[in-house]
Amino acid sequence: MIFEQVATNGCQSYLIGCSETCAAAVIDPEVRQIERYKALAAQHGVRIRYVIDTHMHADHFSATKQLSEQLGVPAVAHRLSPAPYPDLRVDEGDVIKVGNIRLAVLHTPGHTHDAICLVASDRVFTGDTLLIGATGRTDLPTGDPDELFDSLFNKLLKLDPGLRVYPAHDYKGHRCSTIAEELVSNPRLQKKDRGEFVEMMRTLSLSMPEHLTEALRVNMSGGVSVAQLLTEAAAEVPFMSMDEVKARVEGGANELIVLDVREKDAFEAGHIPTAKHLPRGVLELRVNEALPDPTVRIVTYCEVGKISTLAAATLRKLGFTRAVALDGGMKAWREKGFPVEPAA
Ligand SMILES: [Fe+2]
Repeated sequence: MIFEQVATNGCQSYLIGCSETCAAAVIDPEVRQIERYKALAAQHGVRIRYVIDTHMHADHFSATKQLSEQLGVPAVAHRLSPAPYPDLRVDEGDVIKVGNIRLAVLHTPGHTHDAICLVASDRVFTGDTLLIGATGRTDLPTGDPDELFDSLFNKLLKLDPGLRVYPAHDYKGHRCSTIAEELVSNPRLQKKDRGEFVEMMRTLSLSMPEHLTEALRVNMSGGVSVAQLLTEAAAEVPFMSMDEVKARVEGGANELIVLDVREKDAFEAGHIPTAKHLPRGVLELRVNEALPDPTVRIVTYCEVGKISTLAAATLRKLGFTRAVALDGGMKAWREKGFPVEPAA
């Protein structure tokens, strides 16, 4: 068996592969690790055949939709997943065949209604149903402590105690555990009475995960996060260094249009000498009159370098094939002591 555990902060994801058939699956992929999963698969000489989410994640950005689209393979989730994009919806008792490896699906609602665990021969991927020394929380959308009690005590914990436990999260540097170890040492599993367990889960008062609303929006819709949008735009445009722009501005090289895409107040408070002003918000509406020649060389800039990247990507899409973005922003430009007009 080929096995890789990829951690992103506290998020744990897995590549599991069959060395005889060269088939593999990725479980709970995180969006910043897309290239890593592909690289690991290539390194092991396997092809990723399934991309699986154990549940609708509320605290990190799932790569399942993107990875499945890029690889042309099914995105797998429980049939109750609220996401529209899973094309292989599974249910209790189903088996996903990854070459000669069989992943048996257990429906384990509680952390979320669509939560599943996946049992391979000697291990179980527990998602956020069972964590090492903890359980998934039940206070986020579709969570239910009563259901979690049943999923744990009447299903998951009745499996072979020797099974290795691989959860979707671990913030303490653990790699794995076993069912037996969890039964003995997991503090939450010591509450074996339903009422006591439910009461404990209801009174945990945990802080909300970072990016909760954005993660739910992205994972439930299959859309992209703001960070992804910026990364995708940055992949489509070249950049120009601040030193290069300064030299060209000071050299009077007027074939370069320096385009300030910030709002009016920011532009008037101080901009790069010679800059034209065209706010990002009205770029598409005013581009024809502001930039009649699509063959000109343009460098966009904003305050920190993010909006200018989007603006340069938009200009390239519109046919300004020589548009680039400043590598940095007005903030960094000022901090370098580069010329600003009007002088502060
Ligand atoms: Fe979760």
